[in-house]
Amino acid sequence: MKRLSLNEDKLKQYPQYIRKINEIIAGFMPKEDGYQEILFQAMNYSIEAGGKRIRPLLIREAYRLFSDQNEAVIYPLIAAVEMIHTYSLTHDDLPAMDNDEYRRGRKTTHIAFGEAIAILAGDGLLNLAMETALKVLETDDKQVIALGIKALKVLYEKAGAGGMIGGQAADILAEAGTLPQTEELLYFIHGKKTAALIEAAMMIGGILAGADEESIKKLEKAGYNIGIAFQFQDDILDITGSFDELGKPIGSDDEKQKLTSVSLKGLSEAKAEVSRLSREAIEILSSFPRRNDFLLELVDSLIYRKK
Ligand code: IPE
Ligand code: IPE
Ligand code: MG
Ligand code: MG
Ligand code: MG
Repeated sequence: MKRLSLNEDKLKQYPQYIRKINEIIAGFMPKEDGYQEILFQAMNYSIEAGGKRIRPLLIREAYRLFSDQNEAVIYPLIAAVEMIHTYSLTHDDLPAMDNDEYRRGRKTTHIAFGEAIAILAGDGLLNLAMETALKVLETDDKQVIALGIKALKVLYEKAGAGGMIGGQAADILAEAGTLPQTEELLYFIHGKKTAALIEAAMMIGGILAGADEESIKKLEKAGYNIGIAFQFQDDILDITGSFDELGKPIGSDDEKQKLTSVSLKGLSEAKAEVSRLSREAIEILSSFPRRNDFLLELVDSLIYRKK
């Protein structure tokens, strides 16, 4: 399928944006000292391993759809969303869950530090995310405080048992064969375990920029599409990808007999769905008064991502 070619030059800014995001996150990470030094090391290890930083980037780009002022207001939420995402990966890789030994090109946290510390490092990141996100309220500006509370509520609802954690539970239950392998269940799992946090990222950007309710609903819908497409592509890459590019093992889903887009629909239908959902997201994101070419190009590029 032909790429949209909206304004591909825009994507050249990607590495520069990621550097900035990494700086922001690093500013909120703990110093490695005290009797729990190894815990802090494990938390930093999983964050510093890198990753695409898609969720922070989506907060930033959704924000820029509505405002070009006072961008620092989003920094605590940018760091918090990546901490939550990273804790979810640390726990996802544990032997009790997906039992994977590589992540982001490195040994997973439990291989490097042991299971107990990996569990606690995940807990630590989830808690640090709250401590960090709350900093959005450290201002005298009543408007920012009101929007910050709204953003915090979205983040923690989408990341919780009704969202990401719930999706992870359903993913494990489906693997154990206790749930029927249906299309409805597939969209439930992917909608919760992956799309929920991506919806949150889109909504948080809009909320903090002062977008109206209707726009936030649209951002949520675009986030849902991007999220489902993102997880479908993750399922596809588990078969067609390479360890060197992905930095995590191939064939992991098949080994655990996971319910995935590929196991249910087959490769070509899963690929077609990634394109369809992403194009629909691009349409939604093109319907706002402001245009954000970088965001449109980013969503388009995710259709073709190899990592
Ligand atoms: C991996 O997420 C897990 C999924 C939800 C598909 P990413 O593909 O965003 O992983 P990193 O952050 O780039 O390592
Ligand atoms: C993980 O899905 C989703 C979350 C961690 C919330 P996967 O189990 O497919 O992610 P990878 O393939 O291990 O990155
Ligand atoms: Mg998993
Ligand atoms: Mg996994
Ligand atoms: Mg996967």
